Amino acid sequence: MEIIIKDDFAAISAEGAKIVADYIRRKPDAVLGLATGSTPIGLYQELIRMHSHEGLDFQQVTTFNLDEYVGLPATHKLSYHYFMWEQLLSHININRDNVHLPDGMAADIPAYCKGYEEAIQAAGGIDIQVLGIGTDGHIGFNEPSSSLGSRTRLKTLTRETIADNARFFERADQVPRYAITMGVGTIMEAGTCILLASGAGKADPVAKAIEGPVTAMITASALQLHQDAIFILDKPAAGKLQLQEYYEWVYQNKDNRARAAAPIQAGP
Ligand code: F6R
Repeated sequence: MEIIIKDDFAAISAEGAKIVADYIRRKPDAVLGLATGSTPIGLYQELIRMHSHEGLDFQQVTTFNLDEYVGLPATHKLSYHYFMWEQLLSHININRDNVHLPDGMAADIPAYCKGYEEAIQAAGGIDIQVLGIGTDGHIGFNEPSSSLGSRTRLKTLTRETIADNARFFERADQVPRYAITMGVGTIMEAGTCILLASGAGKADPVAKAIEGPVTAMITASALQLHQDAIFILDKPAAGKLQLQEYYEWVYQNKDNRARAAAPIQAGP
């Protein structure tokens, strides 16, 4: 795991966007896994800026979103479809056919979820998955007690998640109780996972995810088993990490470490 600690939201957004953009520049037909919520908004704004000012090209990029509320049509202002087009997709040159978001209005949800998994496979799998973390430690909507091997499926949201997300709705009872979400197992198959977290409200789940036991009670802790998981945290979100100083030390020595690990050049 790589733990990157930055001063504030702007800095984590820039760091996350840089990782995604570098990947797209190396692999123009990259498959991105995307998240909604407050946390990735700055990252998306930075990608939009790179698209308009630096020519970052999304023409061949494919996207798969983590989740969608059940019962909200794509046109609903609080659906994750709507969010993604507002916050990112309308502002970049992505091909509409390459955009995938779970359909919260699917008639046969199990069959739909199976098809979503197949579409990810058909695209060659997710290269980079962007994640946030819930106050209950969830990734996607994999609430506590979700199987760490789970696949895309219907989940019942916890009361805590419903209360957290009520800020977007007029009343808490308008928040859907169910969502379609990629499973932890689906997320774990992404080549790289980058999890962003901001604010003191995330310090507890972040510390449990990184330094606690791997447990279905904190589904983000499954990332401890991922070979390329990067946590990008602002200082308040990193506030409860026991090894915070060590992570900062590792980051400061990153360039030297890369040189130390490089194969020794044969002499003349
Ligand atoms: C959203 C998602 C969720 C959020 C998490 C944090 O697509 O998968 O796991 O990332 O609930 O939400 P925010 O960023 O609003 O704190």
